[in-house]
Amino acid sequence: MRPTDAAPRYDRVARWLHGGIGALMIGQIAFGLALDALAPRGSPGRADVINLHKSLGVLLLALVLLRLAWRWRHPPPPWPPTMQPAAVRAATWGHRWLYALMLALPLAGWLATNLSRHGLRLFGWRIPPWGPDVPLLYQTFNALHVALAWALALTIVGHVAMGLWHGVVRRDGVLQRMLPQWPRH
Ligand code: HEM
Repeated sequence: MRPTDAAPRYDRVARWLHGGIGALMIGQIAFGLALDALAPRGSPGRADVINLHKSLGVLLLALVLLRLAWRWRHPPPPWPPTMQPAAVRAATWGHRWLYALMLALPLAGWLATNLSRHGLRLFGWRIPPWGPDVPLLYQTFNALHVALAWALALTIVGHVAMGLWHGVVRRDGVLQRMLPQWPRH
């Protein structure tokens, strides 16, 4: 048995939420960037494609909230004692920044949508906008939505790089505790 096999791990639900949200989030960023190519502005299919993007975004927001609630009731395992306090602080703030982006990004899109005449069709269920139609506010929150999407994309790259650094260079068990449990020999 390798020494890291015995280290405390995230529970199964936390690991599934991590993997599922990670894959969906990367897919949703790519989907957002491809919206104009998939359905150019003014084309007949535009509304359906945009509403699918909005619906997946709301689903992701719900999943992130569920994950935060799960994490609150099931705290993560302690960091390995080999990690320096500065590295622990950097990881803690990096994860807080990731959660802040994962919440703020869909919220900005949802606010923009509600400050326009469009509203939302949530997987086909029409929800009229609750706010006034103010084009300047729509454009502002939309621009924020785009900026946050790029910030999240960059942060995900950094997050994966740090995970690999722990798994391949440091080999301190930090990566293993979030990965599926391989059968032991
Ligand atoms: C985590 C979830 C989400 C991610 C990762 C995401 C990502 C993106 C990205 C990358 C774009 C393209 C930006 C660009 O033009 O370069 C985009 C556009 C857009 N998003 Fe999202 N989004 C999310 C959730 C939402 C939600 C919840 C809504 C609304 C309820 C929404 C509404 C929109 C709209 C309307 C556009 C198109 C804006 C336009 O060009 O007219 N998004 N999104």
